[in-house]
Amino acid sequence: MVKNFFQISDLTRDQLLSIILPKENKPLLKEKNIGLIFEKNSTRTRLSFTVGISQLGGNPIEIKFEDLNFNRKESFEDTFKALNCYLDGLIYRTTEHNRLLESSKYFNKPIINALSDISHPCQIISDLYTLYERFKTLKLNILWMGDMNNVCFSLVEAVNIIQDINLTICTPRRISDKIKWQMNKNIVIENNPSNLYLNKVNCVMTDVFISMNDKESIEKIELLKKYSVKEDLMSKTLQDSIFMHCLPAKVGLEVSEDVFRSTKSIVWRQAYNRLVAQNNLMQLINWD
Ligand code: CP
Ligand code: NVA
Repeated sequence: MVKNFFQISDLTRDQLLSIILPKENKPLLKEKNIGLIFEKNSTRTRLSFTVGISQLGGNPIEIKFEDLNFNRKESFEDTFKALNCYLDGLIYRTTEHNRLLESSKYFNKPIINALSDISHPCQIISDLYTLYERFKTLKLNILWMGDMNNVCFSLVEAVNIIQDINLTICTPRRISDKIKWQMNKNIVIENNPSNLYLNKVNCVMTDVFISMNDKESIEKIELLKKYSVKEDLMSKTLQDSIFMHCLPAKVGLEVSEDVFRSTKSIVWRQAYNRLVAQNNLMQLINWD
């Protein structure tokens, strides 16, 4: 069993693989009150956890970050000690990953990372679920186009653990040169989109050029424009290939309208599977 889920590597390979198989919802959260704190906007994560906690028999309680007593100078420590008095678990989206680690010092029930600046593990467990649902295998070639961000980091962690997936990350050198992540041999970085071998690609993934934690930067958008997923790239991939995006998307930037709305695009299935995979994840958490 797992206590906190802050990043993909908090799971063993077996645990990770168990999430991608369909499971029956069990009432494992009966009489449990689970708080949801979002320091940043969210549609999918907020709703999929709210509905999922109810489906597992629990009581989801949305806590508005701005309504906590931080503006009256109550400390982070005292706030999470107070939450610890009432709640049996937390779903927490934060601007600073370190706050997840810090909160777990004062809140001694499970905490699930609902996205941080460096990691979005709930997205990637769901995307693995979607990939397996679609292809019935994880022996796949995935191409990640664009920024190396929190979602990409969680994907890299998953690929390091699972090893069946070959991952190519196509990103500008100015971005990849700054990255210090551990990456196994089944992950390659390609800085030039013209050098990509596309004919064995099963799945093309991307995400926004500017994440919530980034400062809006015209320069970064310009740098990434040639890494946008367009029809000419998709048409060179396998016939049954798919396009994935965690959403929300800036259609017309990281992905063209025709790819986003094409039959290859399974972004709404991905969004739905957030609910399914997170319910599976919650079965691995030790709530007692
Ligand atoms: N993909 C994702 O986490 O979406 P939200 O920001 O809407 O939660
Ligand atoms: N990389 C994006 C993911 C949103 C779900 C962000 O952090 O804004």
